[in-house]
Amino acid sequence: MGSSEQGEHAIHTMFLEERRYPPSPEFAAQANVKADVYERDFEEFWETEGRERISWFQPFDKLYEWELPYAKWYLNGKLNVCYNCVDRHVESGAGDKVAFYWEGELADTRRTITYSDLQSDVVRFANVLKSIGVKKGTHVAIYLGMIPELPVAMLACARLGAPHCVIFGGFSAESLADRANDFEAEIMITQDEGYRRGKPLGLKKIADEAVLNTPSVKKMLVVAHSGGDVAWTEGRDIRYDDLGKDASSDPADCPCEPMDSEDLLFLMYTSGTTAKPKGIIHTTAGYLTGVATTHNYIFDLKPETDVYFCTADIGWITGHSYIVYGPLANQATSVIFEGTPDFPDKDRWWDICERYGVTILYTAPTAIRSHMKWGPEYAQKHDLSKIRLLGTVGEPINPEAWIWYREHIGGDKAPVVDTWWQTETGMILITPLPGITTLKPGSASRPFPGVDAAVYDESSNEIGPGGGGYLVLRKPWPAMLRGIYNDPDRFLSNYWSLFPGNYAAGDGARIDEDGDFWLMGRVDDVMNVSGHRLSTIEIESALVAHPLVAEAAVCGRADPVTGQAIVAFVTLKGGKEGSDEIVKELRMHVGKKIGPIARPSSVVITAELPKTRSGKIMRRLLRDVAENRELGDTTTLADPSVLAKIQQQAQAKP
Ligand code: PRX
Repeated sequence: MGSSEQGEHAIHTMFLEERRYPPSPEFAAQANVKADVYERDFEEFWETEGRERISWFQPFDKLYEWELPYAKWYLNGKLNVCYNCVDRHVESGAGDKVAFYWEGELADTRRTITYSDLQSDVVRFANVLKSIGVKKGTHVAIYLGMIPELPVAMLACARLGAPHCVIFGGFSAESLADRANDFEAEIMITQDEGYRRGKPLGLKKIADEAVLNTPSVKKMLVVAHSGGDVAWTEGRDIRYDDLGKDASSDPADCPCEPMDSEDLLFLMYTSGTTAKPKGIIHTTAGYLTGVATTHNYIFDLKPETDVYFCTADIGWITGHSYIVYGPLANQATSVIFEGTPDFPDKDRWWDICERYGVTILYTAPTAIRSHMKWGPEYAQKHDLSKIRLLGTVGEPINPEAWIWYREHIGGDKAPVVDTWWQTETGMILITPLPGITTLKPGSASRPFPGVDAAVYDESSNEIGPGGGGYLVLRKPWPAMLRGIYNDPDRFLSNYWSLFPGNYAAGDGARIDEDGDFWLMGRVDDVMNVSGHRLSTIEIESALVAHPLVAEAAVCGRADPVTGQAIVAFVTLKGGKEGSDEIVKELRMHVGKKIGPIARPSSVVITAELPKTRSGKIMRRLLRDVAENRELGDTTTLADPSVLAKIQQQAQAKP
């Protein structure tokens, strides 16, 4: 396994973890899941969920079809995702129920949005989209921050049958253009400005720069948020407010388009092991059923009484599945927060939890570790007694963080669900079920009912209890990706060729004696920095695009807060020597090329990189250097002395 050395320490500490948290009888008595759920038949389970949880314009006539590796679900059904997330709730009399509490980054900017409000907003937005030419099948790119118009725009697209692609608001113009081009977007939706730590951030400005290189984009629809001045391109740019003020918000004027179960709902780009991000395809019925079902059982959602807060950004898959589609399909009341956890102070989240009476909180281990570092006093200033369930996602959680989370945020009683999944899986696949599972800090427990996960060795042999290897999925699941947009070969080679007939997740895992899974991190050239998935090669490409850089190798180093931190080893053209200014310049350069999340935490400028005799950079050894470990086998190096020099340079760094 690529990252086995790196995972070794974690594996030992996790396997020594013996604390156990059985469900309390009170929680178990009221849980949404029933104790026999794991015994249910896979087909019966998904058939029932599909029929009962989703409203169909025309029922499906076949549960699924699997022509390896392509799966289809709920075949020949007709439905609309927006109808399921919005209209049906209003029609059933829940129009006055709150769908979203929106909390802005700036003090006292708030909105309470009921399901009726959401319907009006979505219909108006959809009518505006229609008036600028969007119809079923039009590709719409969305580059918005965490403002109410983001879910509204997504739902408006779903209403019209226009596939959307949301690009995280922290991406650079170049990353935005790459994704919008690959998606062949015709329309781009953006906002004037967002906020970062109270300061305006020019999203439209970045979109303007991106659109110079996206010939398919014909129109840019601009939502006013900060009200700041922005450059304007007549003929291309359209102010949402100009059209929105006269657009009808009556649902009768904009019916929900009946879509086939397998119609494209959205693409979400994610990093893989090459420089080019992958456009992961998600379709309509299986995705919606998968996210709604998992959201209901795993978060034990009681739509009448719960207030659910997922701190992810909607620009990532967690936000799509567990802020927008899953919770809305289940008629949840959710909090959407525009800002960061420590602005204006480090108790911002806890203030939000107290004020809205949050009962379920879903966040990432990296955030929990930041809060641990800041200390529990920020949480203690607030009444968090309503919190009854906690979730984590995005990276392995160390037992200390898990326990801190339960103790200081969950009042020493809330179950913690450590949920494993991916952009590709669309929905949570490995997770505890609250009320049933005896929790182990650091373990994501068991595959969700109907999910067939296993751990394989390199030769596709299943590994039993106590062993470790590669995580695979052996049966299709409703929300699974339907491919990589415009790249079927990559879909096959990336996921299906390593263990033929099985989906290779790219993660290492171990199974313990009880059959519980312990996720060990990526086994490929993908890093996980603060829960963000980044490709080493994407960052290397960005570095070598700088005029000073000759070669670059990037790897992850374990970091106590961010999980992994990015270390870049760089050689400069003409043997030029490094300096603090060049290091700074290269970090900024990566930030500009990809986005601030991809900035290396350290850049080591060196005369040479360690290579094999055939010229391959030995990343394994660089990882040893980055982690300050004893070097592994160096016998295949063309010039072993190179490494000693790099080590010196790396250690000389501040
Ligand atoms: O390595 C796993 C890690 O995050 C990867 C998926 O990243 P992304 O597609 O960006 O989706 C993140 C949100 C679903 C996985 O391959 N990962 C995610 N959840 C966990 C995890 N690793 C360990 N434990 C988890 N609970």
